[in-house]
This record gives sequence, structure tokens and C-alpha cells, in this order.
Amino acid sequence: MEEIISKHIEKIKQITSATKEELENLRIEYLGKKGVMNDLFAKFKEVAPENRKQMGIKLNELKQIAQAKIEELKEKAEAKAEENKPKEDFTKPLESVALGSIHPLTLVRKEIVDIFSRIGYTVQEGPEIEDDWHVFSALNFPPEHPARDMQDTFFVENGRADGNDILLRTHTSSVQVRTMEKIKPPIRIIAPGRVFRNEAISARAHCIFHQIEGLYIDKNVSFADLKQNLLYFVKEMFGEDTKIRLRPSYFPFTEPSAEMDISCTICKGDGCNICKHTGWLEIMGCGMIDPNVLEASGIDSKVYSGFAFGMGVERIAMLKYDVKDLRQYFENDIRFLKQFSSAL
Ligand code: DAH
Repeated sequence: MEEIISKHIEKIKQITSATKEELENLRIEYLGKKGVMNDLFAKFKEVAPENRKQMGIKLNELKQIAQAKIEELKEKAEAKAEENKPKEDFTKPLESVALGSIHPLTLVRKEIVDIFSRIGYTVQEGPEIEDDWHVFSALNFPPEHPARDMQDTFFVENGRADGNDILLRTHTSSVQVRTMEKIKPPIRIIAPGRVFRNEAISARAHCIFHQIEGLYIDKNVSFADLKQNLLYFVKEMFGEDTKIRLRPSYFPFTEPSAEMDISCTICKGDGCNICKHTGWLEIMGCGMIDPNVLEASGIDSKVYSGFAFGMGVERIAMLKYDVKDLRQYFENDIRFLKQFSSAL
């Protein structure tokens, strides 16, 4: 028996490499249920007691050698497999990654800014938390004007001793005032931003929305200039054949004031559900800046005149993309968002 064990030891020691298959066969041959080891341990019972110790040591030696060899061969095989693996090809073009898309409001704001920047307007921004002066008083709102009402305005600090309450701006017209305080005419700016009003949320209204304000001040600015600037904008935004219409209106900060309509983008003026069969869609307020507003910010109204306009970004985006419910802009449902372009 000792001789058999020695032969096995010798045989195992001579193996230097094995394929995966050979390795498995070797394991079964020695360590398997019907393998050499179990066979020899069975025979071990017949060994004479005086030889048992010696034989036991030998037998364990064989087992250890077999186990160690199998482990060694396994490691070698794995190392070889790793070596043979195809190397990374760093010249391979990247697989394309799915891109997100740009929010429709961002897209439309960018488009509006681009259109006005082509005729010399630059962008100005102002704070969302404002004071009464910049949102109302400097814009010629009388003290009892309903827009200051608790119903519409979110106050941060109401009833201040100096009367200059702190509030969330209800329109971006506040940036007109901040700009006039900062820059001397000629002024030609647009001010995109978020505004806040205490309104119930529905398909057509939200308590947070976006506006873009425009302001143009220079010598000899007339209503004709206002009309021409807005006509240019509308043609760029909605197409060359879009018409505009100005209806008299009222805003405290402009005189005269107007509401601007565009010919319906859906029916082109024939009348449909969207334009409520009028052929026209209202898109912004505008007018010649009231001299009181210029004077409140230190601009001489005898030398300078100007116009202003303000529009809702949600509304423009609704018309542009046929969005029927304003709430979709804020829900951020991926199925809604991914319909818009992924490139600015
Ligand atoms: N601030 C007005 C609003 O929120 C919109 C507006 C109307 C802005 C007329 C103007 C303007 O600059 O001239 O409803």
C-alpha cells in the first residue's frame, strides 16, 4: 500500500498544467466519492496496527499533495484565462449614452432671450424675494391697489413700520426698477424669472410661474418702436405670417397700456377652440413707461421715454407646444419631458 501511495504522489507531482476539463477529472480521480483517496482510506482499515501510524501520515501526505496540486493548477488556469482575454480597445468609439431632454420652459425662455438678444437686448436678473418699493410703489401702484392685496401676494414680512414690506415678487416688472436704478439710458434689457402669486392651482393657473419682462429706454422712443419690436419677436417666435393686434388696456406702470394678441397659431385666424373662435390669442401686456415710473428711479422723463412689455413663459410654451395643462410643467413626468428637444 505504501508503494501505491508513493506512486500516486510521484504522479501528481509531475503534473504541471491542466485544462479546466483535465483539472475536474483529476479532482474526481483523487478526491471524488469513488476516488483514490476514499479507496485508500477504505483499505487503511486492513493495515496492521503497528503500521497504521506510518501509513496514516503517508496517506494524509497524499491527500494534501493532491489538494494543493489541484489548487495550484486551478490558479494557473485562471491566470492563463485572464491573459488570453481580449484586451480593452481604447480606440473604440463610445457607446452613446441616453441624454436627458431640456425642460420646455427652459427651451422657450432660451428662445425668447435669443430672439431679443439679436436686436440688442441684454439679460438682467433681480431677486425673487423683493420689497414693496420694487414690485409696487416704484411702478406707480397706488397704495390701495388690489394687486398688493393679501389674496395675490405672498408676504415675507407684512406691515413693516417703514411701509416697505418684504414679499415674493408677483411679476418681473420689479427688474425694470432695479435696472433703472443701476444703469443709465439707453437701456435695452429683458428679464426672465420666476414669479409667485397666491392663486389656486389649476390647468390654467399656478402659484409659481415664469415671466419675461422687456424694457427699452432712450431718447425719442415711441409706441411705433414698441409695436415694431414686438412684431419682430412674434414673427421669429411663431412664424413669419403671424399677425399682431394691440388692444387698449391698463397697467399702473404704463401709459398708454395695451394687451397684445397674436393671430391664432392653430387656426391661423379662422376661429377654433383654442382661440375661442376669435382668431386671436392674448400673449402679453405692454405700453409706454409712465413718466412717474421713470422719475421714481431718477430718470428725467422730459429727456427720455421708453416702453415695457411682459409675458408669461408658460403661456408661450403652451401655444408653441400645444400643452393643455399648466401643471404638467411642474410634475416632471418623464413621459412629458422627453418629448422636448435634447439640444439647446
Ligand atoms: N407685469 C404685468 C403682469 O404681471 C405684465 C406687464 C404688462 C409687464 C405691461 C409690462 C407691461 O412691462 O408694460 O401682468
